Amino acid sequence: MIRNQRRLGVGLALGLFGALAACDSDSGSSDPLPQDYYDGNESAALGSATNEATCATCHGNTANAEGLPGNTLHNIAYHTGFKGSTDLTLLDGANACVTGWMGGTALTEGDNAWKLLEEYIQSISDTSVTTMNSIQPEVLADLQAYEDKYGSGGDATAGASAYAQSCARCHSGGLTVNAAGAPTRTTLALLSAGEIAQQVRTAGPPPDTGADTTDTRQGPMPFFEVSDLSEQELKDIIAFIKGT
Ligand code: HEC
Ligand code: HEC
Repeated sequence: MIRNQRRLGVGLALGLFGALAACDSDSGSSDPLPQDYYDGNESAALGSATNEATCATCHGNTANAEGLPGNTLHNIAYHTGFKGSTDLTLLDGANACVTGWMGGTALTEGDNAWKLLEEYIQSISDTSVTTMNSIQPEVLADLQAYEDKYGSGGDATAGASAYAQSCARCHSGGLTVNAAGAPTRTTLALLSAGEIAQQVRTAGPPPDTGADTTDTRQGPMPFFEVSDLSEQELKDIIAFIKGT
């Protein structure tokens, strides 16, 4: 059973009770809703004072959310582990992003913000889906290896729509992630194909996922695994950026 149906029932019951018991209460009009911590100003504010990225910038909330760097948060709440480790909880996974990408302070179980965010993620999750996701950044030997793999074979026309789906949400509007603004496409075009590919595949990762000594591109741009963005899609995007 989908958890949010149950919650809807509880919410209706509480709402009815609230209406009968406390007619003067209009707390619903200005108090943040659980979803605001996923895609609203409340979400961006979990990061640093300058951060504009929300959970929704990087994570979808539907079953078929594709082309984003983070896994969908749909059906994720009841997994047995996070970031490939059964030692990590949903809160740990979220905190890796709040501190690692967004530049904020780690949330704790008792924080009201976390209670609401957790409630939202649970509301879009089925309790029966428990298998954790794997995490596999594509780490090649060195910059030349990215150049060799991604430097040719792209289709710029296909790349335009893939760029619109996966990159433009940050790069078109100069979105600030923690304290860094995303550069324009014209600026990205100054880099080599290998540098662009290495950035897309290895930017970050947040501190707790372990240091990759070959990684000179530390973010806060998030990395895209091959399961998020295929090899062909990345070749196409590079061809589009480079105008080749
Ligand atoms: C700038 C991009 C970015 C932002 C913003 C971001 N995340 Fe993430 N998140 C990632 C990436 C990349 C990963 C690595 C694994 C993956 O693909 O999900 C990740 C991993 C996670 C995981 C572990 C996923 C798993 O399957 O193990 C959770 C849970 C999570 N994020 C929750 C959140 C929440 C909640 C927010 C908002 C408070 C948030 N993230 C904000 C990029 C981001
Ligand atoms: C969540 C927002 C976000 C998304 C999505 C995103 N980027 Fe970025 N990107 C940034 C930010 C912020 C920076 C600047 C800080 C840094 O280097 O991490 C950046 C930097 C870069 C750089 C390095 C620029 C330089 O001068 O060193 C490249 C290349 C790049 N992005 C390419 C891409 C491509 C290609 C995509 C789509 C596949 C993409 N980005 C998706 C936010 C994002």
